[in-house]
Amino acid sequence: MKVNISKYDDLGQGITKINDKVCFVKYGLPKEELDIKILKENKNYSKGIIEKIIRESEHRIEPVCKYYYKCGGCDFLHMNFEEEKKFKINRTKDLFGKIDKFYETKEYNYRNKIILHVKEGDLGFYKEKSNDLININYCYLANDKINEIIKLLKANKDINFNGEVLIRVNSLDELLISISGNYKYLNNLVNSILIDNLIYNDKILKGNDFFYEHINNFQFKVNYKSFFQVNIKGLESIFNSLTTFLRDKKINNALDLYSGTSVLGILISKYVDKVTSIEINSNATTDAKENIKLNKINNLKIINGKVEDYINNFSDIDLIIVDPARCGLAKKTIDYLTKFKPLYLIYISCNIDSLKRDLKILNNYYNLEKVEVVDMFPRTNNQETICFMKIK
Ligand SMILES: C[S@@+](CC[C@H](N)C(=O)[O-])C[C@H]1O[C@@H](n2cnc3c(N)ncnc32)[C@H](O)[C@@H]1O
Repeated sequence: MKVNISKYDDLGQGITKINDKVCFVKYGLPKEELDIKILKENKNYSKGIIEKIIRESEHRIEPVCKYYYKCGGCDFLHMNFEEEKKFKINRTKDLFGKIDKFYETKEYNYRNKIILHVKEGDLGFYKEKSNDLININYCYLANDKINEIIKLLKANKDINFNGEVLIRVNSLDELLISISGNYKYLNNLVNSILIDNLIYNDKILKGNDFFYEHINNFQFKVNYKSFFQVNIKGLESIFNSLTTFLRDKKINNALDLYSGTSVLGILISKYVDKVTSIEINSNATTDAKENIKLNKINNLKIINGKVEDYINNFSDIDLIIVDPARCGLAKKTIDYLTKFKPLYLIYISCNIDSLKRDLKILNNYYNLEKVEVVDMFPRTNNQETICFMKIK
């Protein structure tokens, strides 16, 4: 069936209309004429895939990665990077009414962490929404040190087990690897000069179960189970964004919610009288306690627990930073933010859907003053959105 793609949807898929019904065409680009096959027909929409490109967009490119159409880790390798940037800027304007700044990062090889699955000699990522393993030799999103480890594992041909390999690298190129499963050839890895830290089924075999990350003038201990932003240049941009906002403000009490290793709490501690971080993961709060000592911070308190269980204990807060996981804010947290009303609320989100949902409520109580985007996950449809809000 021949169709013309008119625009992108929120995820960057092409949209066309067939008999007045919306059809989403994965990998379709605006202004393209395509021959498509309908894969799924729903009451209000259908989903199609490209059979043939009749008229090609000037922004279409040959994907750099041979696994692209199978793997599902990237979303935009079929368009040039400039077009991806334009899409992310326009999407932000459409969804949130404005965009004040777009922080660019590196197109490829930016990820400092990946988790690979291993199944009977294959090592790679699961195909989108399935348990089919795509065997890979190289990942364009991963830091090249991580790709060296993939090469090492493959060269040894000793991956005949079922399990997972977590690979993390810091900005000093130190590697941390954690393997779970019944891996038999650990000596190859223990003896590899590439690997600084090796953990096997939660037992340390070499080095430590953490490393230190260095950003601006800060140092952060990061346990292999703690969250840390996957794109260091992106994290530096979040730092710049927050610093610019806080520089001329007078803040007494602040909360850093969903705080991980308290990276943001430590950054803002310089600009506020007192700050409290709340984080559910005890490995991350143990790191955070070490991090306040490492960075000589004495006005930051750390709580290990759920934000929604502790938030009601606070009053007289001028600034709250929330940086939740993809699911967004819990109802109890939103209720608190609508009742308690701190002067400033900064919502940092890696998921536009949950951000949109939460802002629908929060916008009744706060003015959205500034929206900035950090391109934390280039070549995918995800982005880090920072919303600066002030109480109405
Ligand atoms: C996107 S990360 C942000 C971490 C930190 N702000 C940073 O930039 O490194 C979200 C964090 O929220 C934590 N988390 C998830 N649900 C939580 C909850 N209900 N209460 C507290 N922390 C939670 C996760 O463990 C994770 O560390």
